[in-house]
Amino acid sequence: MREDSFGREVSGVRVSLTDRCNFDCVYCHNEGLGDTRGPMDARDHEMSADDVVRFLEVVEEYGVDSVKFTGGEPMLRDDLEEIIRRTPESMEVSMTTNGTFLPGRAEALVDAGLERVNVSQDALDREQFKHVTQSGAYDRVLEGVDAALDAGLDPVKLNMVVFEKTAGYVEGMVEHVAENSGLQLQLIEFMPELVGKPEWAVDIDRVHDWLADEADEIEHREMHDRKRYWVNGGMVEIVDPVGNANFCANCHRVRVTHEGYLKGCLNRNDDLKSMGEMTKPEIQEAFERTVDERVPFYGEYMVRDGDGGWEVNEKYVTA
Ligand code: 5AD
Ligand code: SF4
Repeated sequence: MREDSFGREVSGVRVSLTDRCNFDCVYCHNEGLGDTRGPMDARDHEMSADDVVRFLEVVEEYGVDSVKFTGGEPMLRDDLEEIIRRTPESMEVSMTTNGTFLPGRAEALVDAGLERVNVSQDALDREQFKHVTQSGAYDRVLEGVDAALDAGLDPVKLNMVVFEKTAGYVEGMVEHVAENSGLQLQLIEFMPELVGKPEWAVDIDRVHDWLADEADEIEHREMHDRKRYWVNGGMVEIVDPVGNANFCANCHRVRVTHEGYLKGCLNRNDDLKSMGEMTKPEIQEAFERTVDERVPFYGEYMVRDGDGGWEVNEKYVTA
């Protein structure tokens, strides 16, 4: 596996297949691109299935053994099944989706090789759901979760972004996964950087403390230094990039934008690397440079720059 200069091996890739989405979640960071597209405009189209597969074949040679497909909404791509079917055998395949297209299609995805799914669900009440996603498709999402379970994607992870609007729904969601076998909850600390909403941030440590009180068992995972809590038989995991000083130090993924640019970190856009016309040597070169130049974002590597932004802690600036 290729290691970056902070000792982080890259074992996974997260590939955005489109930036189109049928929802408009108020917190959405659009895979770190936000509203400002910058150098992206040069290649404003989606990677073809051939491009995606060629990329995966190249990074497999560097020991990358998992891929997560994401969006926008990845299920807006008609060739998603084809892409999954053509993904190298050695890779574990997962997807993050808003769930609305899972009814009627979950089985085909599993047949193609999909192994795990994360469905975004931030609330248990139709009005609250609408408030966050700006969509009325609540029932479709619930049907989508059922369709995923029926297709054998067990467990289904529910992604919930914890911010000012949803903090009050955490308790209900924890009960929900405890009562429904097959469901797990992933609480994601809201990242304000790319959406310019610092006032929506919440103190994720309060959620940790509450869960620690409620939990029968706590487990610690290496990837992103995550904690898992078992509450009344339900599994709740916290993904806390901002509040956890060791999160970025344990990040083992690079990302690819829908247009085929490599990205060493979700929160950076100064590190986008073009893979040219996507020939194997071009992909190899761009991947190696991306890993070599990768810099963590949050945690002890980064410090406030005095203007409300972040800069690399001078301890880690190499001459
Ligand atoms: N902060 C944290 N998580 C976010 N997501 C989207 N925007 C944000 C943000 N600003 C998460 C959602 C979605 C996944 C693709 O990314 O949980 O399911
Ligand atoms: Fe963004 Fe996902 Fe919500 Fe679509 S469903 S708006 S991609 S967070």
